Amino acid sequence: MATTRQTLAAAVVAALPLVTLPVTAPVHAQEHPRAARLAPRIDGFNVDEVRRLEPGTELNFDLYGTPGGYATLRIDGATRNLTLTETSPGTYQGTYTIGTHDRINPASAVTANLRVNNMVTTRLLAESLVRGPGRDDAFYACSACHNFKLVAQQGMTRRQWEDSLQWMTDRHGMSPLKADEQKVVLDYLEATYPPRAPAGRGGWQNPFAPR
Ligand code: HEC
Repeated sequence: MATTRQTLAAAVVAALPLVTLPVTAPVHAQEHPRAARLAPRIDGFNVDEVRRLEPGTELNFDLYGTPGGYATLRIDGATRNLTLTETSPGTYQGTYTIGTHDRINPASAVTANLRVNNMVTTRLLAESLVRGPGRDDAFYACSACHNFKLVAQQGMTRRQWEDSLQWMTDRHGMSPLKADEQKVVLDYLEATYPPRAPAGRGGWQNPFAPR
């Protein structure tokens, strides 16, 4: 059976260039390089971290990328999307004011879209929305070898974070943190990047609530 299919496939492949070459060659030559140049670029996407997420808090976002585009962002748990304004070429800014119906937590995913000429580039916010104690310690300890984004993308329990640190030490050569240092880093990771609520439920499980 396989041989028959292979033979057939080979026959099709062999026949293809005869049919498609005269048509695709000129089209590809023109379209492909132009499309690559037009794909929007996002060079940076940040938030001014706040102390608390509560109704009335303003979240200020900046996005840097291809000028002349249309930039929007979506915060998990937020009831509205936000359109950013291009305040100078390639700089997009916007403020989201938290409302009473929003359920935004420190680890809510924030996704930005930059659209230019019908092509869209997406970027996930790599930082937490909230400035927590231990943030600098965690950055210092974890971004020596890899982007902090690799850490910020995760959502784990304290136990899992602890295992993660052990894994960094055992397998990746991280110098073990001193006990007090490790506590500060774990406190921060646990509070800022807890396990994410199931998609679509819109809720966030308080990591301190009894289970
Ligand atoms: C000495 C180097 C080093 C340090 C310091 C370090 N890591 Fe890593 N980490 C690695 C390497 C190497 C990988 C694997 C890289 C990859 O998959 O791209 C990794 C991957 C990870 C991953 C992804 C694991 C997965 O399953 O995909 C997490 C989460 C992580 N590190 C957390 C941390 C945290 C939290 C800290 C700070 C407390 C930290 N790392 C510090 C070297 C390090």
